[in-house]
Amino acid sequence: MSRTVYVNGHYIPEEKAKISIFDRGFLFADGVYEVTSVLNGKLIDFEGHAKRLERSLNELDMDHPVNTEELLSIHRELVSRNNIEEGLVYLQVTRGVADRDFAYPKSASPTLVMFTQAKPGLSNSPQAQTGIKVISIPDMRWDRRDIKTVQLLYPSMGKMMAKAKGADDAWMIEDGFVTEGTSNNAYIVKNSKIITRQVGHEILNGITRRAVLRFAAEQNIDIEERPFTIEEALEADEAFITSATTFVTPVIEIDGTVIGNGQPGSTATALRSIYLEESLKAAI
Ligand code: PDD
Repeated sequence: MSRTVYVNGHYIPEEKAKISIFDRGFLFADGVYEVTSVLNGKLIDFEGHAKRLERSLNELDMDHPVNTEELLSIHRELVSRNNIEEGLVYLQVTRGVADRDFAYPKSASPTLVMFTQAKPGLSNSPQAQTGIKVISIPDMRWDRRDIKTVQLLYPSMGKMMAKAKGADDAWMIEDGFVTEGTSNNAYIVKNSKIITRQVGHEILNGITRRAVLRFAAEQNIDIEERPFTIEEALEADEAFITSATTFVTPVIEIDGTVIGNGQPGSTATALRSIYLEESLKAAI
């Protein structure tokens, strides 16, 4: 069945959706994106994603295509038209269409594209039960990872490197310390304390990360926001990742070494259920 997608003010069948070959998103990866999950037909943490989008656009001097209210109504319309119960809404803004030139065009209107992906079972994925395996790879991305740009070739390569080694994902290392996963934030737990890298230009300020750390603090779980090494991770009691599409997912193996007892840890498991429960309550 064909989806209804959104392109610059129009709801159209996916086969009819077209973007110019001169779009700067296509030519220069001059674009930013957001992924908002949908559970029970409702948006999880829409406001967080909308705020981060605004920040990404501002950091790149890019025009805002619509205001937050309009953005919410497009999200809801797509969820409803495509009958999404569990899944996600993807949104991408690019600087727009202009003849190819490295300098930003003086007048171009931003392109806004949005579509849904149905993912039945997202909230109860097998990986949440079994945990995932990760490998470590060098972080070869640019230095402004706090801006959620569509430059995702290296993360794609990282996932392929992981697959080739029989793992599910990769954690990236810079100057000896873990930055984050290819499309998620990375955590370890040692002596009941959560350790995760502090936000900065080196990692994406995850919307799920913020919520999960808040719930952890409410549970009186100690949190230390600082960089950690892979060696430290290998000695940890638990490891896990967070993102809008994985929520909280345990990591049971890093570079072929089992973490803890090789089973999803109790902290990750508890945080996942709290996150899902609380986020559903606040979903819009
Ligand atoms: N990725 N770090 C990176 C590099 C990411 O790409 C993502 C999200 C996160 C987690 O952010 P959040 O909790 O806001 O989803 C961290 C999305 C899900 C993606 O690219 O599909």
